Amino acid sequence: MKKVIKPYKFGRMQNSQDFQQVMKADGLDFPVSDDMSAMLEPFELHGKIVPNRIGIQPLEGFDGTPDGCPSDLIFRRYHRYAAGGAGLIWYESIAISDDGRCNPLQMIINEHTLPEITRLVKESDEAAMASVGHKPYNVLQLTHSGRRSNDENWKPTPLAAVKNPYMDDHTSIDGSAGEIEVATDEKIEEIVAGFIQAAELSMRAGFDSVDIKVCHEYILRELLSAFTRPGKYGGSFENRTRALMEIIDGIRELCGDGIDICVRLNAYDCVPYPYGWGMKQEEGVMQPDLTEPIKLCKMLVERDVRLINLSTMMPRYRPFGAGIMAEHDDDADITPYAGVADLLKATKEIKEQVSGAVFMCTGLTWLEQFGAAVGAGGIEQGWFDIAGFGRQGFAYPDFPKDIMQGRGMQRNKCCITCDKCYDLIQIGHCQSGCVIRDMDVYLPLYREHVQHKG
Ligand SMILES: Cc1cc2nc3c(=O)[nH]c(=O)nc-3n(C[C@H](O)[C@H](O)[C@H](O)COP(=O)(O)O)c2cc1C
Repeated sequence: MKKVIKPYKFGRMQNSQDFQQVMKADGLDFPVSDDMSAMLEPFELHGKIVPNRIGIQPLEGFDGTPDGCPSDLIFRRYHRYAAGGAGLIWYESIAISDDGRCNPLQMIINEHTLPEITRLVKESDEAAMASVGHKPYNVLQLTHSGRRSNDENWKPTPLAAVKNPYMDDHTSIDGSAGEIEVATDEKIEEIVAGFIQAAELSMRAGFDSVDIKVCHEYILRELLSAFTRPGKYGGSFENRTRALMEIIDGIRELCGDGIDICVRLNAYDCVPYPYGWGMKQEEGVMQPDLTEPIKLCKMLVERDVRLINLSTMMPRYRPFGAGIMAEHDDDADITPYAGVADLLKATKEIKEQVSGAVFMCTGLTWLEQFGAAVGAGGIEQGWFDIAGFGRQGFAYPDFPKDIMQGRGMQRNKCCITCDKCYDLIQIGHCQSGCVIRDMDVYLPLYREHVQHKG
């Protein structure tokens, strides 16, 4: 696996203005502010108070129990996030069915796992109350892994919405591929029903909201780009968004307003048309076109789905050039800073066109200690409403508390974007966390499973 190119020395930059200028000189526009108050401002969402605008994003630790319950490591992770003081915690992806797992230790939501998941939410909220005196707004990400599915022995079992020449030869997270089965309309209907049931269980577990995951390589995102699929779930915009709308309507019917609904959505796929969503509709052209994502966001707001986290396949890839294909091409550059700048710009453009929504951004961990200034600046200047951090939560779960208490984000506690957490799952197929900042737990796993040092 090739290395990510990181030309900037964040440790040598004195302040956020330095950071902004260096980036600007390379044509990358980032909003910054040293005043953290915008990020600490509470707000109301569906009648509930979100205590601040710092969000921890879903990071699956590949560390549930074989029967899909949260393990001790998962309890530990969410206690740390909650005690850290983030206003919003977006719990990692949980499978709606056994066949929708992307790895043998992904959590599953069903009647058997419900008591432990309920305990996870309750105890995490208690940890937050004890540490910072507020309860976060809790979102659970529901997923069916689709073409990313694997069985209990890590054998790929890819279920696709359509054949996709750009992605069919690497279906599993480790780059291996299985024989692709294209889901029938009946199978999609079964998945739709599974999401609705899973939302009802999430409501009983005590979550504030469920995320109907339409991002990354999973099946509902793939349906958005199913231009070449025949039948009622493919082709036209209406057909490609049908499954998502059926799920939203079904949840409302079953749960009323007992649980909020939100989405993590790809702003664009970094895969050319007719196989990518949010891309210019010219065959083979790698360029974003936000027309359909904007249209979809407006439809979501009309259905009272107000919280939208914009993402892309992986923010390290640009929607220009090689896109997600760079992952498997040793000659293609990976430029995370340009990738994040592109995604934030797209977030700003979508937010400008869609009123009534609350947008969360993605990719701030790449900016290390300057993630806080960009989060605050982005909110202050109207680029987005919630600053979303992924790997920073693994490395430095109490950074929101440091910001709240005026210490700011401490460089020596930050994620160094070494990607070892990703290596743990991609190469090691094992439990993931921060190998550098949480080394007592994760360095031994890295040595054993990635470096094979026993
Ligand atoms: C180990 C690992 C697990 C992840 N698990 C999920 C997941 O369960 N759901 C999801 O939507 N994104 C997942 N992501 C993506 C992150 O949420 C986030 O978008 C990404 O790390 C980029 O943000 P960052 O630069 O702030 O880390 C995962 C990323 C990593 C590294």
